[in-house]
Amino acid sequence: MIQDWFLDAKLGIFIHWGIYAVDGIAESWAFFNGTVSHEEYTRQLDGFTAERWDPDAWAALFARSGARYVVLTSKHHDGVALWDTRASDLSVVKKTPAGRDLIRPYLDALRRHGLRAGLYFSHLDWTHPDYASIGSDDPKANPFAFRQGATDPDGWGRFLEFHRAQLKELCTEYGPIDLLWFDGDWERDAQTWHMAELREQLHGWQPEVVLNSRMQGYGDYKTPEQGMPIVAPEGPWEFCMTINDSWGYQGSDRRYKSPQIVLQTFCETIGMGGNLLLDVGPMEDGTIPPEQVEVLEHLGRWIGRHAESVYGTRAGLPFGHFWGPSTLSQDRSRLYLMILGHPRGQVCLRGLKNAVTRATALGSGAEVGVRRLGGADWMQVPGVLWLDVPPDALEPEITVLRLELEGPLDLYRGGGQGV
Ligand code: GLC
Repeated sequence: MIQDWFLDAKLGIFIHWGIYAVDGIAESWAFFNGTVSHEEYTRQLDGFTAERWDPDAWAALFARSGARYVVLTSKHHDGVALWDTRASDLSVVKKTPAGRDLIRPYLDALRRHGLRAGLYFSHLDWTHPDYASIGSDDPKANPFAFRQGATDPDGWGRFLEFHRAQLKELCTEYGPIDLLWFDGDWERDAQTWHMAELREQLHGWQPEVVLNSRMQGYGDYKTPEQGMPIVAPEGPWEFCMTINDSWGYQGSDRRYKSPQIVLQTFCETIGMGGNLLLDVGPMEDGTIPPEQVEVLEHLGRWIGRHAESVYGTRAGLPFGHFWGPSTLSQDRSRLYLMILGHPRGQVCLRGLKNAVTRATALGSGAEVGVRRLGGADWMQVPGVLWLDVPPDALEPEITVLRLELEGPLDLYRGGGQGV
């Protein structure tokens, strides 16, 4: 069930942390696509230490970034659990020098910092002996033969039991979980996964939990990934994105998005009514790379100064009214215009029928002049609003204007009137 906290939160932090950080290769996909053999991939177990991990420092950083929720990979497609699962031996507790459960300290630290707690969980498990993968469709890749094959009904039955056993542990032994972020549903259909039943089981264990969409149609919200939507997906949604090109830590990946690019993407996402789930890839010892920390701190500084235009707002104007993202208060009587960069002269807003009772710059509180020019009152086509932002009210990157409207937002959406 979708919850208000999720719609109000706007920013979440995604964490891909696992043994793939040891060699800095693609999480699970490295063996699936044949970049390395499964044996070589698995050898990374020996190098995963978590020795500098400070869950409180993580949670404090995420809270400072302005995020309201966090999602950690409890188990990726490689099958390595970050908690002490009784359903298999393949966990960082039993198989790595880290030797301890990482899920409970993570959840406790989030709760101490007032953050909503999410867990990522991959349905498919490319290492489990009873999981028959459909294999890689990349002809250059390893045949992935060691698990590939037709679904054997007994094996599948055992796999489903294992899948449910792991989820039951996570959902019943670690206190409240606000969000379950599933992945890896694509190799089987909803019926084969028994997704309808799974949804009920999950609600039995965690009545309030929000479920993402990767449940073959049984989730609560959509999760476009990496490719920014151009039109807002229907219903609740969240855009997940990496800061460089990798979900997990890959030291050789220098294709970092700048703090400014991430901030703009954040504003565009919330302007279309979505949340941004921004991914970090910690190193095997638990250190978050400095380039990623910098992006989070930058977001936090901006959000802190413009919080009113962020938390609890809803999608703003459709394209064509204002050259930039915008958000709306829930009662639709306050409009927040986000000015990307520095305008020369006035900023324009078209098609607003409401009178504006007051306009201010959100960061500084400075008054903004408003003039309505043109329009054809006799045909109900409103004039264009020209907003005069005092130069010293302009923020270094994105300035937010708050327009208080008379009544709830009322837009002219027509094509003008021919006479
Ligand atoms: C993809 C990938 C996976 C990653 C996920 C995050 O589905 O399979 O590696 O964890 O995207 O959205």
